[in-house]
Amino acid sequence: MKIGIITTTIRNDRVGLDVAKWVYNLAKDRKDAQYELVDLKEYNLPIFGLDINEDEIHLVNKWKEKIASLDGYIFVVAEYNHSFSGVFKNALDFLKEEFTNKAAALIGYGGLGASRAIEHLRLVLSEMQVATTQRNVNFLLAVDFINYSQFSPQNYQLASLEELFKQIELWTKGLKEIRMENKKWNH
Ligand SMILES: Cc1cc2nc3c(=O)[nH]c(=O)nc-3n(C[C@H](O)[C@H](O)[C@H](O)COP(=O)(O)O)c2cc1C
Repeated sequence: MKIGIITTTIRNDRVGLDVAKWVYNLAKDRKDAQYELVDLKEYNLPIFGLDINEDEIHLVNKWKEKIASLDGYIFVVAEYNHSFSGVFKNALDFLKEEFTNKAAALIGYGGLGASRAIEHLRLVLSEMQVATTQRNVNFLLAVDFINYSQFSPQNYQLASLEELFKQIELWTKGLKEIRMENKKWNH
């Protein structure tokens, strides 16, 4: 069972990668799933809908293949103007069957822990048949960061993170069964 911990921002000064790396370090030795850090920035995706060249086709395929190779996801979500980032929505629009009947858990960081961005993302993921788990972890810029920019999470977040790991591992396992059932029906 493979679960990707996926960043959703690409700014040069972003903090998203630090948050994702911290989550990955706590996830990597867990027994019930194999975790992997996936950095959206590395895929350098073109804008969905524009004409794309061979190099860009390769990048898009690499992104689709990575998402297809994972059974579940933990998205590390930033809040931009009360939603998740445009660059992440663009990346989602390239996906379809790579994503269907899989599970995702959501970790946010922002003024209010990206809680509004997370709720928007739930709606989008539900349309894509990705089931989102209940427990979020919400890192607050004023509390879990030094000077609103250097990630320094409070200890109490660990209990929420443990619950999130358990929920995503259980649903990832369950959804894998559903995908197998679905394959049987379709053949
Ligand atoms: C374009 C933009 C819009 C933002 N809008 C919000 C917002 O609506 N709510 C919020 O809590 N933080 C907002 N922020 C602050 C971000 O939460 C903060 O900059 C965070 O570090 C962004 O993630 P990143 O560093 O990984 O890019 C915004 C930041 C940017 C760059």
